[in-house]
Amino acid sequence: MSALLELDGVTAGYGGGDVLHELTLSVDEGGITCVVGPNGAGKSTILRLVSGLIKPRLGGVRFHGESITGLTPRQILQLGIVQVPQERSLFPTMTVWENVRMGAYTLSDRALMERRMRTVCETFPIVAERRHERVAALSGGQQKIVEFARALMLDPKLLVLDEPSMGLDPKTHTVVFDLIRDMNRAGRTILLVEQNARSGLGLASHGVVLESGRVRLEGTGAGVLGNGEIGRLFLGAPV
Ligand SMILES: Nc1ncnc2c1ncn2[C@@H]1O[C@H](COP(=O)(O)OP(=O)(O)OP(=O)(O)O)[C@@H](O)[C@H]1O
Ligand SMILES: [Mg+2]
Repeated sequence: MSALLELDGVTAGYGGGDVLHELTLSVDEGGITCVVGPNGAGKSTILRLVSGLIKPRLGGVRFHGESITGLTPRQILQLGIVQVPQERSLFPTMTVWENVRMGAYTLSDRALMERRMRTVCETFPIVAERRHERVAALSGGQQKIVEFARALMLDPKLLVLDEPSMGLDPKTHTVVFDLIRDMNRAGRTILLVEQNARSGLGLASHGVVLESGRVRLEGTGAGVLGNGEIGRLFLGAPV
C-alpha cells in the first residue's frame, strides 16, 4: 500500500507552545488509520494540521507525495481532504437537506452535485427520509450520519473523522462504526481519531498510539490492540 498522507517530523501547537513533537505518521491509501490516545494527547491537533487550520513550526505534510504545508484550509479541502470535526458542526435550525447540500458549496457543476446527492441518499437513506426536517430534531447519532453525508458530497480522497463515537449510545455506536467500515470498503481512505480505542483499533488497518504529542506505538490495528502494555495504559484493563 502506498502512503496517501504523510506527516514528516512535524512540530506544531498553539500560542502556548508545541503540542506535537517531531511527529511522523503515514496514512495508507485505501486503509483506515486510527489514532488513539488520552485526552489532550494532540489527536485533534493532528487533524487540524492536516486540514490546514494550524501550520507546523517544523516539518511538513505531504498528500500524494506533494507538499501541502502552508496551503489554506480551502485549498486542502479542494484537494479532497474532508474532515468531520469532533464537535457538532451542523446548522441545527436548517433542514437535513440544506445541511448536506452545503457540503458541496465548492462545486459549481449542478449535475455533478445532483449525482452526488443521489449517491449520498443511497448510502445513507435517512438523508432522503428526513430531508425536510430540521437537524435539531434528529438524535446525536442521526446527526453524525448527516455530517458523514455532508462530507461525502465532496467525494473526498481522504475522509478525516474526529471521535465519531462521542456521545453515542452503544447501539448507535455500532451503526456508526459499521458505516465507517462500509465507506472504507467502498474504497474511501479514512483517518480516524478515537477515544474508544477498542472500536477504533478494531476497525483499523493501521493503529497509532499518541501520547503527549509523540507516537508511543504503531502497527496493525489488531497488533496495537493486542499489546499488553498499551492495554493497561490506555484501555483500562488487559486485553
Ligand atoms: N485552540 C487551542 N489553543 C490553545 N491550546 C489548545 C487549543 N486546542 C487544543 N489545545 C491544547 O493542545 C493540547 C492537545 O489538544 P487536542 O485537542 O489536540 O487533544 P486531543 O488528543 O484531541 O484530546 P481529546 O481526546 O480531549 O479530544 C491540549 O493541551 C490542549 O489544551
Ligand atoms: Mg480531540
